[in-house]
Amino acid sequence: MNIILMGLPGAGKGTQAEKISENYKIVHISTGDMFREAISKKSELGRTAQGYMDQGQLVPDEVTSGIVKERIAQEDVQQHGFMLDGFPRTLVQAETLDQIVKELKTSIDRVVNIKVDPEDLVERLSGRFICRKCGATYHKIYNPPKVEGVCDVCGSKDFYQRDDDKPEVVRNRLEVNIEKNTPLIAYYEKQGKLSNIDGNKPINEVFDEIKKVLEKV
Ligand code: AP5
Ligand code: ZN
Repeated sequence: MNIILMGLPGAGKGTQAEKISENYKIVHISTGDMFREAISKKSELGRTAQGYMDQGQLVPDEVTSGIVKERIAQEDVQQHGFMLDGFPRTLVQAETLDQIVKELKTSIDRVVNIKVDPEDLVERLSGRFICRKCGATYHKIYNPPKVEGVCDVCGSKDFYQRDDDKPEVVRNRLEVNIEKNTPLIAYYEKQGKLSNIDGNKPINEVFDEIKKVLEKV
């Protein structure tokens, strides 16, 4: 199964991706995570991406599509299928992705679009914190760890907030993504692949809705 998870920043893509990859054993490919890893390794890709990410701008299409192309061709993805999180984000990326899957003689089965009222996204992003050791994502109000200050998944007590979750960067991220989102939705709607999910509900209810969609794939 090959799927795309779409949604504005803070819609819950990463949160649902953790659950989907655990449940369906498909490979989670997050372009945001790949860029953050490259930044922490101080690689050339990281140096390129950082300037854009710090300002809430999109990394250029050719750079982003290049890393996705390379990742999708790898053995584990070919074997288990992929779930793209945060890619494509522009029409050019969507067209490139269609070309990539065609070359690999595979296809996109479903595009899951998590929809959340834009006015709630700032609160979601400003309350987010992440486990430094395992990457699990939490929210101070909506999804706190079961034991305060201790990661449910790995037991670590070391958490951080993303640099791009600062209010001034968040505003830019939302603006840029809202603008690009509409034509992308239309693109997949036209292909008959789009499923809209109400992302305003609690995390487990959103996951139940996604499962209903994926059962039909
Ligand atoms: P990326 O890392 O992909 O960030 P994003 O798209 O802005 O999305 P987020 O990770 O912020 O949000 P999410 O939807 O995963 O929400 P989450 O589950 O964490 O990209 C970062 C940057 O990299 C971009 O700005 C760009 O510069 C670059 N980039 C990446 N891909 C690119 C591309 N294709 N092209 C060009 N540039 C690219 O949830 C958010 C919070 O809400 C959490 O605290 C969570 O606990 C909480 N929450 C989740 N679900 C619920 C719920 N149902 N109810 C209440 N709270 C909830
Ligand atoms: Zn952890």
